[in-house]
Amino acid sequence: MQTVTTIAALRQAVEDLRASRSGTEEAAATLALVPTMGALHEGHLTLVREAASHADHVVASIFVNPRQFGPNEDLDAYPRRLAEDAARLEAEGVALLWAPGVEAMYPAGYATNVSVAGVSAGLCGADRPGHFDGVATVVCKLFNQVRPDMAFFGEKDWQQLAVIRRMARDLDLAQPHVDAIHGVAIVREADGLAMSSRNAYLSPLQREAAATLPLAMRETAARIAGGQDAAQTLAALEDALLGAGFASVDYAELRDADTLELLAADNGNARLFVAARMGSTRLIDNMAIGRS
Ligand code: PAJ
Repeated sequence: MQTVTTIAALRQAVEDLRASRSGTEEAAATLALVPTMGALHEGHLTLVREAASHADHVVASIFVNPRQFGPNEDLDAYPRRLAEDAARLEAEGVALLWAPGVEAMYPAGYATNVSVAGVSAGLCGADRPGHFDGVATVVCKLFNQVRPDMAFFGEKDWQQLAVIRRMARDLDLAQPHVDAIHGVAIVREADGLAMSSRNAYLSPLQREAAATLPLAMRETAARIAGGQDAAQTLAALEDALLGAGFASVDYAELRDADTLELLAADNGNARLFVAARMGSTRLIDNMAIGRS
């Protein structure tokens, strides 16, 4: 695996990979991009494996993107383990690691912002002003820098996936590159908690209590699928989370899985979205109604 930290080195490495298709075919090799902020866990590695099954080569990126962190968020505390992450990516057969510094991504004078209206508005967009602008901006840049044929994102961040899909459509990023944006199902710990780099912030007691989130959500999803009143069921979910030791619930909502429009009842394509704080750690999860 090659690791590059400058745009010039990235361009050269991508060009080399494109030319390095195994076998005798004339066509250029296909590339899949897996963008991450590092502190890699099985969720990230699942994206890498999925990417490897769809393309000749996988390009992973690690960049803790300052533009998607709010002023009071955990940018400085966010775990950074580049050497360890690189070893794990190499073991997964990743061909190229793009690990730019902040100055390579946002050189002096950088002034452009990508903002996706609509799908960015509610849920995490409401609690984290500017967050999805930061995500859309950096992912747009990553697509233009690497120009992959496809990119892989986790359903753990369902709204992020919706924002990226909307952006790629709106900004014509598909042709000739990034033809496919793949969503990969949430990878969970044995007790159901969705894997997240932020789980490392939890104390052992908090970690244990955090498992209530997916359990209570699964129960809520089943109740709504079974025809119980959504508003009452969501209110009961909030109470259950607060009772289990969550400090607060940022949102517990039923929304259309595609448009992210708020729903009062299951419309056959509904998804449950929750963000709740365990101590100061903000955990998010989402699941389908009826299929869970
Ligand atoms: P990060 O939180 O590092 O996540 C990188 C990718 O891994 C995202 O697509 C995320 O949805 C996916 N992922 C994380 N945990 C997962 C899990 N338990 N199961 C499945 N997929 C999971 O998301 C970001 O970074 C950034 O916003 C980024 C897209 C890289 C832009 O900066």
